[in-house]
Amino acid sequence: MRTDAIGVTARWAIPPGSSALGDALTARVSEAVRGFAAAHGTTWSPGVDLVAGGVATPCAGGAAFAPSTTRLTITCSVVVASGPVVGERMVVTSTEPGASATVQREVWYSDAAGGAVLTGTDLYDAGTERRVLGLVTEGLREAGRVAAADDPFSGLDAASARALLADSAATGAGVVVTLAVPGAARAGPTSVHLPARLLAPFLSDAGRTVLTAAASGDPYAPPDAPAGADPIDCTLTACASITFDDGPSSLTAGLLDLLDDERVPATFYVQGAYVSRNPGTAARAVAAGHELGNHTWGHPDLTKLTDDEVRREVVSTQQAIADATGVRAASIRPPYGASDQRVRELVDLPFVVWDVDTRDWQDPGVDVVVERAVGQAARGSVILMHDTHGDTVAAVPDVIDGLRARGFELATVSGQFDGRLPGPGELVGHGPR
Ligand code: NI
Repeated sequence: MRTDAIGVTARWAIPPGSSALGDALTARVSEAVRGFAAAHGTTWSPGVDLVAGGVATPCAGGAAFAPSTTRLTITCSVVVASGPVVGERMVVTSTEPGASATVQREVWYSDAAGGAVLTGTDLYDAGTERRVLGLVTEGLREAGRVAAADDPFSGLDAASARALLADSAATGAGVVVTLAVPGAARAGPTSVHLPARLLAPFLSDAGRTVLTAAASGDPYAPPDAPAGADPIDCTLTACASITFDDGPSSLTAGLLDLLDDERVPATFYVQGAYVSRNPGTAARAVAAGHELGNHTWGHPDLTKLTDDEVRREVVSTQQAIADATGVRAASIRPPYGASDQRVRELVDLPFVVWDVDTRDWQDPGVDVVVERAVGQAARGSVILMHDTHGDTVAAVPDVIDGLRARGFELATVSGQFDGRLPGPGELVGHGPR
């Protein structure tokens, strides 16, 4: 069968904040999707709208290419989230025409206190894997899945034994191992519950920590990290940016609460006059991981000003932002999107405009703002809104949900460029595509 395209979907959950587990899971997905694409003579390019039924948290993700019989599917589920420990199962399935699917199952753990990343196999002391598989065999015999005299794992080398235990999911009462039993008549994976008391002699220190946390039933206590610290790779998943102009206003603090709840970093193009009046709001936005850009002091059409007036509008606003937050705004959005060659040569910043205009300032109603922001977004979109309109703030939760459901990750504008925005005077309408 001729194959022009491959299909790839990947869903995985990243714990809040920058963490070794988030990096490890992202690296695992990246390796799988880029490797699969390379093996089929193409390169990975993230898309949206290809996951049937949308994408839901916690296992959000990305997709690319058209549906195809040559496909890679990565699914995720959270197996434990208790105390400082989080455990996530990843199942990587690759399907080629005319061949049976290849399935790799693994559970990854992190202990937020120690920060170490473990796989399911690391729950057990090195060298005890065959003993653990002995417990699995007993479980299979009790369930009547193998005959009393059979040992499906006999003759396995240590590396194969370790690989078979990769999907070891900690529960309150022990570990559920899910594996493909060698030589089994029944296709597909089999799950066996291993009680904690039988496993005790074989657990590693890390394994005891994970099982203790799982048995505690404590709520998950994620590290306290601002949304801006969440790792986002806009070459792996499709990104979009929500941007808010003309503030800070009396509505901005409420908007920051919503963005905190959703763990979404946004970009605010602020006016110097309002930053000087609301320095605490500007500082709070930066502390939460949002990006601040320059939207001039008094919102003039810069193309109608003299050179000196243009410089004054920009420099005074840079100063107000620096005074309030301690950071330098990395880009400017000219009021009305209006700039020309002369203006852009006067200002030592890239000019970021937008490719999706919600026209929220016309007060079209919450539903229309949501429909425009979600419906018109493409990979790399920069979406224009204003944190000076109540309906806009009211629309934000549905805008975020809608964009995520289509498969977008939300990043700041600089985040879309991995922190390396185009140079001063460049006109930027959207992120990389
Ligand atoms: Ni404006």
